[in-house]
Amino acid sequence: MFNQETIAIEEKIRSYCAENDIPLAELKWQPIPFNGEWGTSTSFFQTAANEAKAGKGVKVPMRAQEIAEAMRDEIGLPKGISRVEAVRGYLNLYFVTEDFAERVIAAILQEKSDFGRGKSKGERVMVEYAQPNTHHSFHIGHYRNAILGESLSRLVEFAGFETIRAAYPGDIGLGVITVLWIYEKFYKRQEPDGIHERGQWLLNLYVEATNMLTEKENETDDERILREKYDAERREMYRKWDAGDEYIRDLWLETREWSLDELKEILLQIGINIDTWFFESVEDEPSKAVVQELIDLDIATDERPEGGAVIVKIDEKLGLTKEKYRTNVLLRNDGTTLYLTKDLSLAKKKFNEFGVDRSIYVVDVRQSMHFMQAFAILGLWGFEQAEKCYHLGYGFVSLPGGAMSARKGRVVIFKDVADEAIRRFTETSKEKNPNLSDEQRAEVAESVGLGALAYAMLAVDNSRDTIFDMDVALSFEGRTGPYIQNAHVRAASILKKFKVEGSKLNVEKLKPATFNFELTSHEIALIELLSRFPAVVEQAANEYRPMIMATYAYDLASAFHSFYHAVSVLKAETDAIRDARLRLVAAAKQTLANALALLGITAPEVM
Ligand code: ARG
Repeated sequence: MFNQETIAIEEKIRSYCAENDIPLAELKWQPIPFNGEWGTSTSFFQTAANEAKAGKGVKVPMRAQEIAEAMRDEIGLPKGISRVEAVRGYLNLYFVTEDFAERVIAAILQEKSDFGRGKSKGERVMVEYAQPNTHHSFHIGHYRNAILGESLSRLVEFAGFETIRAAYPGDIGLGVITVLWIYEKFYKRQEPDGIHERGQWLLNLYVEATNMLTEKENETDDERILREKYDAERREMYRKWDAGDEYIRDLWLETREWSLDELKEILLQIGINIDTWFFESVEDEPSKAVVQELIDLDIATDERPEGGAVIVKIDEKLGLTKEKYRTNVLLRNDGTTLYLTKDLSLAKKKFNEFGVDRSIYVVDVRQSMHFMQAFAILGLWGFEQAEKCYHLGYGFVSLPGGAMSARKGRVVIFKDVADEAIRRFTETSKEKNPNLSDEQRAEVAESVGLGALAYAMLAVDNSRDTIFDMDVALSFEGRTGPYIQNAHVRAASILKKFKVEGSKLNVEKLKPATFNFELTSHEIALIELLSRFPAVVEQAANEYRPMIMATYAYDLASAFHSFYHAVSVLKAETDAIRDARLRLVAAAKQTLANALALLGITAPEVM
């Protein structure tokens, strides 16, 4: 923040360099942490290095210092700046402390939920997430995917990218057909009522069918014959689906809808609103055309005449001598497409029909080879955007009890975990805050229960595995959602008390404060963190890492809790100090809410 000053100063630096023929490198400003005063700093090493490269015969460190000194003399003492120094190649600007504090706070209170929003980047980003396979239930791993994609979408959108949220459920494949087969054969019209019950019931069918279709140890002949018969039926069903058989397609659409109903219900509950739905089944036909296009362009090789498949030799096409991309089959000998084939046609659609400049795929980290291959083929195909395709791989989620396996039915259903979190928080809240109305309590429990889950997922860096422990996640201490939400609640309660305790003023109407009293370390830490929020948004969005925002939210909450314990606000020494602190509290509350919103977490007023 504080671009006004730096922009004016940058102007001066630029014109000075232009006049004096100095090849100025990009100016990057870094905050100087508080040490009696706040400041910001930039260096001239790169500029000096540019000169050296141009053959000016300069020694980089010395020349950097020379330039920094020249700049110091050039810019004088702009308004709001208390001093300027040139030290070892750096130009350091220090802000007038009281101005800085009030300006941070004024900006927050004025911009409110827009505080930290970046200027338009002029680029369109598509974030693809929430793509579980259908005919299955939404488990805790899918939840990590969904919340990660949502938080990322909110971050890039807030940072200034035009953002499209896309989902791509896997709605066809052998797993789907397996469920369809057993349903049709043994369970037709036995489905339970209720969106979640029906969704979860499909998972049970899948487990049972897989069991029937898997070879057992010491299988008898009869058992084997039966299993092979079932398997043949399943294959026949797949063939019919492929051929567009109306009965099978209807059955498939109907059961698919049960999964999608459940998925949409959950997305609604966790605050996700998908703009565009893609489906694997829809990409099947167009992807066949893509294969032909790639053969015609001599990117793919058609080995079908020799009894092989259509493949892409990426390594060879890229002129690599070492194997990197392995074998890539695009079309089997029987003419069926693969997962990779469909991703090619999907990507083309994203670029051409949706005008996407950057394409992010939030998908299990175990699929990283798949995406490396897909992006490499897109590059060979001539899509410039291939370079801005990014696979955000995320790690595995398990519970303290152990790993999950869908095929064996050892799955942690998201709905069970969410219900349990909400139920437990409802109990805690009855103890801690008996005065809440039932309606209020239900609302808060939903906010805190889901906040705890979201934070537990987002506090872990993307590709790392994580163990979700409910007791830890719901705790009011440590790095948890409730800990951060509680900071927001405390800020709200101070502001409310101020209103209630007879003041005609409310914080909104307080005049700009003068921070000309001696600031406590707690105030300094808070103000500094608040001032950094816009830069944190930018960094988290640029690096596609919600964890950066999660860490920031914790740091801010922690600074606020310390301030809350150590500094009197309503009983401050003077009214002027009280008012200044009240504005600081309001600014902290707003920034906590903004940070939480970017994590897909709501900020309650009470809890
Ligand atoms: N449905 C797939 C799965 O569950 C994820 C789809 C990822 N997206 C993609 N464009 N391939 O593994």
